[in-house]
Amino acid sequence: MKRKNGFKNKDILSADQFSRQDLIFLFQKAKLMKKIVRAGKNSKMLQGKIMTALFYEPSSRTFGSFISAMQRLGGGIIPLQGMTYSSVAKGETLEDTIRTFECYSDIIVLRHPEVGSAKKAALASTVPIINAGDGVGEHPTQALLDLFTILGKFKKIDGLKIAFVGDLLNGRTVHSLSKLLAKMGKVEFFFVSPKILRMPEDLKDQLKNRVLITQVEKLDEVIKKVNVLYVTRIQKERFSNLSVYEKIKNFYIVNKKLMEQARKDLILMHPLPRVGEINPDVDNDSRAVYLTEQMSNGLHVRMALLASVLGKIK
Ligand code: NCD
Repeated sequence: MKRKNGFKNKDILSADQFSRQDLIFLFQKAKLMKKIVRAGKNSKMLQGKIMTALFYEPSSRTFGSFISAMQRLGGGIIPLQGMTYSSVAKGETLEDTIRTFECYSDIIVLRHPEVGSAKKAALASTVPIINAGDGVGEHPTQALLDLFTILGKFKKIDGLKIAFVGDLLNGRTVHSLSKLLAKMGKVEFFFVSPKILRMPEDLKDQLKNRVLITQVEKLDEVIKKVNVLYVTRIQKERFSNLSVYEKIKNFYIVNKKLMEQARKDLILMHPLPRVGEINPDVDNDSRAVYLTEQMSNGLHVRMALLASVLGKIK
């Protein structure tokens, strides 16, 4: 069945905005992109298009994969990272910065510390804005690649038991991914976090109509049951009191011993960076996908997304 490109000229702000049809369309295209990359093809799909990557917060994978995605498809880039060297350091507003780069480029990928900043930028912009993380809000493109990774492994979503582990209060990747999964099928969630870092109440309210949710503090209460273990970093930069962070930072450590208790068909995911919550002794476990599929899928999904939003894919 031929599906329509529902992404053309759209801002990508939240996991809430995607329909199932959108996701199926995008993932079909991501598979094509994987072929382009694997074949070492010199694609000209986005020739003549320019992407600004406007990153007000640190990033390696999101920044690097968006840049790579654009260039793999023959497009140009304006990479801005570490805003100390731009006019932001002189006190320029987000709106003015956006209005500048809409003149220079066809699409703007924005990472910013404030919740709602991507929406604010979209209101000021005539070119599409992609939210690459708005503070503790959302990270919709990470959710897309995470969902693509889960589907790649299990081929379906129905019946999956998924544990989200770590800083569920501040972790924007889990906010977006939990929304997407709940939309895609009948799943069961286990929210594993210290009490002070539980999933935001309003998000839980939104999810609980569709999904069975169990909230626990200890990983060993769920490790045997789940199909997906999605581990996150305790988000140090979101703590106003660093002594609280210091007390809690090693709350979870996934290691070889713990993995012995997990299912054979489990996948172990992490958006990265990790800062101790997954021990490197697990990296070679065939169930660990954070340094392999999850990472490379980020490139393929972002290639598909850029080409779709820029209307170069049907
Ligand atoms: C995440 C982020 O920035 O939200 N990283 C990423 O984009 N892959 C996760 C994190 O920083 O902990």
